[in-house]
Parts: sequence; structure tokens; C-alpha cells
Amino acid sequence: MPFDRSIKIAPSILAADFANFGAECAAVEAQGADWIHVDVMDGHFVPNITFGPATCAAIRPHIKGVMDVHLMIAPVDPYIDAFADAGADVLTAHVEAGPHIHRTLQAIRGAGMKAGVALNPGTPASAVAEVIDMVDLICVMTVNPGFGGQKFIDMTAKIADLRAMIGDRPVHIEIDGGVDPTTAPLVAKAGADVLVAGSAVFRGGSVNDPAPYGDNIRAIRAAAEGVWT
Ligand code: DX5
Ligand code: ZN
Repeated sequence: MPFDRSIKIAPSILAADFANFGAECAAVEAQGADWIHVDVMDGHFVPNITFGPATCAAIRPHIKGVMDVHLMIAPVDPYIDAFADAGADVLTAHVEAGPHIHRTLQAIRGAGMKAGVALNPGTPASAVAEVIDMVDLICVMTVNPGFGGQKFIDMTAKIADLRAMIGDRPVHIEIDGGVDPTTAPLVAKAGADVLVAGSAVFRGGSVNDPAPYGDNIRAIRAAAEGVWT
């Protein structure tokens, strides 16, 4: 998983057909997705339940590229090895999920995965200052986590703060929530490189008619990259 700051589009399978995850992952990858974003929710840290490591393990063989697992669970630490065994490439924990984010990030890297830390909209950039050298990715939530299809919350000042804090470190800035061709340029301009999008990728298509996935991915990518032209 070589590091670069090019724009990467990461469809969230939260907006896919839950009865057909394997085919949905293959379809969005064939249509140009860079990473696959997998949202794990526990009904405790967030007010919704999705699935756990067994489902991640089941979809892993259907993903050729990066499996980016976003944990919206508390506690995190008892489940880290299970997500490593499931084949997660990136495992992201919320800084708000417990008192020991430092220990959690150590354990994620110790289990052989890239470590991500996520910040809710109400959490400042400074919350990750002491762990900046322990992470490969910082996920800035632009909605309150728990559901797809919510309205984008402007976090561009926080993104710019984090981009300055990161400097030359090989740390991705990922944006999660309400990303579409309208909001993508704002976050890309502020310094984001990984754009998660659920509803804006999966709308209008299906595994039997995947071409709209490609149109949607290209529209988000073009909007984001347009800031540099
Ligand atoms: C929200 C999830 C997101 C969600 C994004 O809690 O972490 O990944 O699927 O969905 P959209 O792109 O529809 O806002
Ligand atoms: Zn997510």
C-alpha cells in the first residue's frame, strides 16, 4: 500500500445492497473505486448496527484493493485481532471511543494493519496531536456517524488544521459523510485525499446496471481534482 496524496474515492458499502456485498464491491472496483470503505457499527457508540468481522472476512475475497474498515464501536481493543484476521488493510478507531486511543493505535499497527483515527464533528483537530506519529490516516467526519445519506457539515477549517499538523508525514486525510460532487472540492482544497462516499456513489445503479457507479465516481473525482487545475 504505497503512500500518495492523489485523490482516492472510497465507496461506502453502507449504501450498497446488504444482500449482495461481494458483487457490489467487485462492481464499484470495476467502475473505478480506489478503496472500499466498510462501516462497522455497534448500536452503542453510534445509534445503528451494521455488521462485524465475520462479514468483513466474507467480503474480503471480493475486494482486490484496499479494504478500509471504519469502526464505530466501543470498546475497540477486544476486536482488533478479529479485524486483522478478516483482512482489513486500514483499521480506523474513533478518538471518542475510549480513554486509551494511544494503546488502541499501537495495537492496530501491532496487528499488522495501517492505523486510522477518526474525529466526530464536535471533536477538535488538537485531539489527535499526541498520536500524529502513530497513525497512517485521520478520518474527519463531516456528519455525525451512524447513518448514510446525511447532510454535509463543513469541517474545512479542521481539515486545514490537520493538514498543517501532518506536514510531510505520510498520513492520509479521509473525509466521511455527505461527500458528493458539490462538497468534494471544498474538502480536497482543504487538504483531504481519501473521499468516502456512500449514497453519492451507489445512487442510480445496481450490480446488474453498474455503469451509474462509474459515472458517480468520475463526477466526484473530477470535482475534487478540479481544484488543482
Ligand atoms: C456514516 C458512515 C459513512 C457513510 C457515508 O456514519 O461512516 O461512511 O456511509 O454515507 P454518505 O456518503 O451517504 O454520507
Ligand atoms: Zn464511514
